[in-house]
Amino acid sequence: MSSHLSPGSFTGTSPVWLREPDDVNALVPVLWSSTAEKIDGVLHIGGLSVPDVVANVNTPAFILDEDDFRARARAFRDGFAGYDVYYAGKAFLSIAVARWVAEEGLFLDVCSDGELTVALRAGVDPARIGYHGNNKSAMDLRRAVHEGVGRIIVDSFFEIERVADVAAQLGVVQPVMVRVTAGVEAHTHEFIATAHEDQKFGFSINSGDAFEAARRVVESGDLDLRGLHSHIGSQIFDTSGWEVAARRVLALHARVDAELGFVMPELDLGGGFGIAYTTQDDPADASDLAQQISTIVESQCEALGIERPHLSIEPGRAIVGPAMCTVYTVGTVKQVSLDGGAERTYVSVDGGMSDNIRPALYDADYSCTLASRASDASPVIARVVGKHCESGDIVVKHEFLPGDVQPGDLVAVPSTGAYGRSMASNYNHALRPPVVAVKDGSSRVIVRRETVDDLLATDMG
Ligand code: LLP
Repeated sequence: MSSHLSPGSFTGTSPVWLREPDDVNALVPVLWSSTAEKIDGVLHIGGLSVPDVVANVNTPAFILDEDDFRARARAFRDGFAGYDVYYAGKAFLSIAVARWVAEEGLFLDVCSDGELTVALRAGVDPARIGYHGNNKSAMDLRRAVHEGVGRIIVDSFFEIERVADVAAQLGVVQPVMVRVTAGVEAHTHEFIATAHEDQKFGFSINSGDAFEAARRVVESGDLDLRGLHSHIGSQIFDTSGWEVAARRVLALHARVDAELGFVMPELDLGGGFGIAYTTQDDPADASDLAQQISTIVESQCEALGIERPHLSIEPGRAIVGPAMCTVYTVGTVKQVSLDGGAERTYVSVDGGMSDNIRPALYDADYSCTLASRASDASPVIARVVGKHCESGDIVVKHEFLPGDVQPGDLVAVPSTGAYGRSMASNYNHALRPPVVAVKDGSSRVIVRRETVDDLLATDMG
């Protein structure tokens, strides 16, 4: 297994992992949702032609393959049988998606009042919601407790007091988990690694804060300590990170039992399961991950002589990421000469960093395909760029596209479902794109495109 975020070496204009395809019109299946196929060179998803789908909504647009999303949700539910699987809504959340999550038997992780509102509007049972965040306000917490959120993941000593106060005022005992940092250096980009010591999340196990947090929760009559929570980061391929984290977190779990005489019934190992953005990524499937993680936890519990707590996980990206792609229209094409005489074809599309900030933020690699027609032209090394006023506004850094790519063509970028629309912005007053769900030959706009009126609604003149 490998990660796209590991530094790569280059040959001329492109990284070594990028191989010239035998057929530049063909899809690489691991990158696409399960119903995606090319018919006479035209991309189809959910039984519909992508050019037809976007003809109704314009571009850029996100296309969400409902069957694929549901299948990935079920794969985690069934692969991790006996666990509670929380879908991490921060990856992408809408009312329709929250309903699918509930229908497929998953729990839901939210990390803001806005996400909680979407979940409740969708009719998700509050008891099946976990609430995250390192700085939830007193008002956020009051609402969460009032609504009966199943568990609040506490992240600071201040928050422990705040939740206890709110619970006391409302006359309830609130279930909480204590978020801990296991001191693991996850092999991923610095900004998406979360369990090393020098960052903002959680209580450090090393410093003793995590034990102290558990002690305070146990002693509070207004809180019910469900267990410890550890999330080591995102886009992780190698289970060794979870292994080290599980060892440290379970040691703390055992210490709470031994020193406080309190057996926490649960343990959450977070999300972060990697997906394929390009051919360099080789993710494991959910049941393999489940087996590896369960083995790690079992052997650790045995070594510590403790009962295995009830486990939960929080995948976001691995469920929604590959289920969605983004479709853009090409506006301009330019040849740029590089040092050494090589050329790069710059393909400008009608979106960019406002609908996918990940390349600019994490140096993330993506791939793409010509979606609207077949081409006989030889492949060229292309860079797909957005329409924003930034040279870092890159959608796909390196890809082979047919040499005759031209204005009016549609280009589709796979695996944009996670943190694409959810981190979209109005930079340059762009209108955030719609999300169109496709299934069995029909399409439904589940999030509409913003309008100029939406943009101006907050501008008081
Ligand atoms: N649980 C917790 C506590 C989290 O903080 C996260 C992600 C997840 C679960 C879900 O992680 P996933 O399975 O989706 O990797 N915006 C970034 C990543 C930051 C994610 C923050 N937390 C990205 O675009 O890669």
